[in-house]
Amino acid sequence: MKLSHALAALIIAWFAVFGCIQAVTLEVNEGNSTCIKAELSASISITYNTSNSTRKAQVPLPNSATVDKGSSSCGTVGRAPWLVAVFGPGHALGLSFSTNGSMYSVANLTLQYNLSDASVFPEANSSDVVTVVSSSVGIWATINTTYRCVSSATFGVGGANVTFSNMRLEAYMPGNDLSPTESVCMADQASTTAPPTTAGTTTTAAPAPTPPGTPERGTYTVNNSNGTACLLAQMGLQLNVSYFSLFQNKTVQELVNLTPNLTTSSGSCEARSATLVLTQGRTTTLNFTFSLNSTSNKYHLSGITLLANWSDMTAPFSASNTSLNYLRGTLGRSYMCNAEQTLVVVPAFSLNTFRLQVQPFEVTTNQFATAEECQVDQDQMLIPIIVGAALAGLVLIVLIAYLIGRKRSHAGYQTI
Ligand SMILES: *[C@@H]1O[C@H](CO)[C@@H](O)[C@H](O)[C@H]1NC(C)=O
Ligand SMILES: *[C@@H]1O[C@H](CO)[C@@H](O)[C@H](O)[C@H]1NC(C)=O
Ligand SMILES: *[C@@H]1O[C@H](CO)[C@@H](O)[C@H](O)[C@H]1NC(C)=O
Ligand SMILES: *[C@@H]1O[C@H](CO)[C@@H](O)[C@H](O)[C@H]1NC(C)=O
Ligand SMILES: *[C@@H]1O[C@H](CO)[C@@H](O)[C@H](O)[C@H]1NC(C)=O
Ligand SMILES: *[C@@H]1O[C@H](CO)[C@@H](O)[C@H](O)[C@H]1NC(C)=O
Ligand SMILES: *[C@@H]1O[C@H](CO)[C@@H](O)[C@H](O)[C@H]1NC(C)=O
Ligand SMILES: *[C@@H]1O[C@H](CO)[C@@H](O)[C@H](O)[C@H]1NC(C)=O
Ligand SMILES: *[C@@H]1O[C@H](CO)[C@@H](O)[C@H](O)[C@H]1NC(C)=O
Ligand SMILES: *[C@@H]1O[C@H](CO)[C@@H](O)[C@H](O)[C@H]1NC(C)=O
Ligand SMILES: *[C@@H]1O[C@H](CO)[C@@H](O)[C@H](O)[C@H]1NC(C)=O
Ligand SMILES: *[C@@H]1O[C@H](CO)[C@@H](O)[C@H](O)[C@H]1NC(C)=O
Repeated sequence: MKLSHALAALIIAWFAVFGCIQAVTLEVNEGNSTCIKAELSASISITYNTSNSTRKAQVPLPNSATVDKGSSSCGTVGRAPWLVAVFGPGHALGLSFSTNGSMYSVANLTLQYNLSDASVFPEANSSDVVTVVSSSVGIWATINTTYRCVSSATFGVGGANVTFSNMRLEAYMPGNDLSPTESVCMADQASTTAPPTTAGTTTTAAPAPTPPGTPERGTYTVNNSNGTACLLAQMGLQLNVSYFSLFQNKTVQELVNLTPNLTTSSGSCEARSATLVLTQGRTTTLNFTFSLNSTSNKYHLSGITLLANWSDMTAPFSASNTSLNYLRGTLGRSYMCNAEQTLVVVPAFSLNTFRLQVQPFEVTTNQFATAEECQVDQDQMLIPIIVGAALAGLVLIVLIAYLIGRKRSHAGYQTI
């Protein structure tokens, strides 16, 4: 449960960074009164068939989506309240509601898509209008309150996935505006995400993009088959990835920190090579390969592979380089670099490391052996020494100048 919350928080963070999902406001009215109102961002991912394969289409619910007055309704005897948003040529997203007097919930989620729309479904081998329904959508709230979920939540509907974020909605409304009292979803209660500050008005609720800051330092180990640690690593990791953003419709360069709590480590140790695999959620896998030269008794980081499948990507991102020569250390020692280092893997991907210490071979008793520091750290250690020496020199010069001055003035007195 904790993990899923944290993952949700992470996904929001990504949405926040990519920032560009559109917020849509939808209202169902009857006479002069509003009965359903929703402010939300939605992104729909649909798998469809081409003549010889399957493809995935990603469709954000556009700003231009409007409420379909014909099928939407505030509910009558035998008919549940229903909000239907239509967009593009024959696509629609519907939410129907039910209540038991004290709570209301989304009873079903309907998605309709038109495979003839070649701009969204290129090369589809069908031109059908497909309708899929899901009746288990865990969206519910106390009556006379607004359901709020800033975190993103994904619902499977047939072969499609609908991801909502920045959602505020209410059905069976007592007034014409969203109730000020909110029922906050579990994911928001768990995450530290601040709620959007504006209420009622149309919000572009995604927080402003912020650089992620220095990543937290994680401790990762790889164990032998007999359960003893054979590779140790402590480091903060930051991915610097360029890819084509679905939401921004252009190539973006993003800095993404690895969160140690959400990252699991695995790998393997062999005589001449050791592998560390870090996995964050189901979307990010980072693989390190260390090689040992048994002639020179030196090891180095020889390979890095990244697989990322973030919600904003048109296709999974994959980058690998197996002829690297970073983090060079001596067998029986650990390698340490406190300063930030940038490990360029391919032009579209580099890895920034912070406060790093690794030992990929000959680990005994689960502890790092004596560390060999990187050149940058050694240089940085020189700075205080140089400054100290310079200060000492300055003090000496002042002292000498004072003594000379005193001697001169002494001499002066004598001549008078
Ligand atoms: C809607 O509002 C108008 C004017 O504000 C009023 O004349 C009309 O009776 C109202 N209709 C309903 C169904 O309340
Ligand atoms: C794609 O084709 C397979 C095999 O014919 C079929 O089972 C599936 O329902 C099709 N998917 C869609 C989205 O039409
Ligand atoms: C579409 O392609 C799938 C396989 O990808 C095939 O099973 C299906 O029969 C095709 N449908 C049509 C209408 O051609
Ligand atoms: C089938 O897929 C290949 C690529 O995998 C593509 O080159 C070819 O044009 C496709 N055939 C048809 C009939 O679309
Ligand atoms: C979903 O809700 C709509 C509106 O209430 C209703 O017409 C439809 O039959 C429902 N579908 C299912 C599968 O419950
Ligand atoms: C589906 O899309 C096609 C092409 O854009 C359009 O001609 C057709 O009217 C659409 N169907 C529906 C039901 O809107
Ligand atoms: C309505 O449903 C909620 C959640 O299932 C339940 O806790 C509550 O007791 C129900 N209220 C009534 C009046 O049935
Ligand atoms: C909800 O608000 C309406 C209008 O203010 C009120 O009549 C109704 O009793 C309230 N329902 C609950 C369950 O508090
Ligand atoms: C565990 O296995 C490694 C090599 O696979 C060996 O060097 C080490 O002695 C073993 N430790 C124990 C406690 O058996
Ligand atoms: C993406 O950008 C290209 C060129 O900048 C433009 O032609 C295209 O219409 C854009 N697509 C969307 C969905 O905005
Ligand atoms: C990570 O774990 C630490 C200690 O277990 C905890 O204090 C912290 O809140 C966790 N952070 C997140 C984002 O879960
Ligand atoms: C191992 O190190 C020795 C001595 O530095 C060097 O000559 C040799 O090419 C290295 N072997 C490999 C596989 O890198």
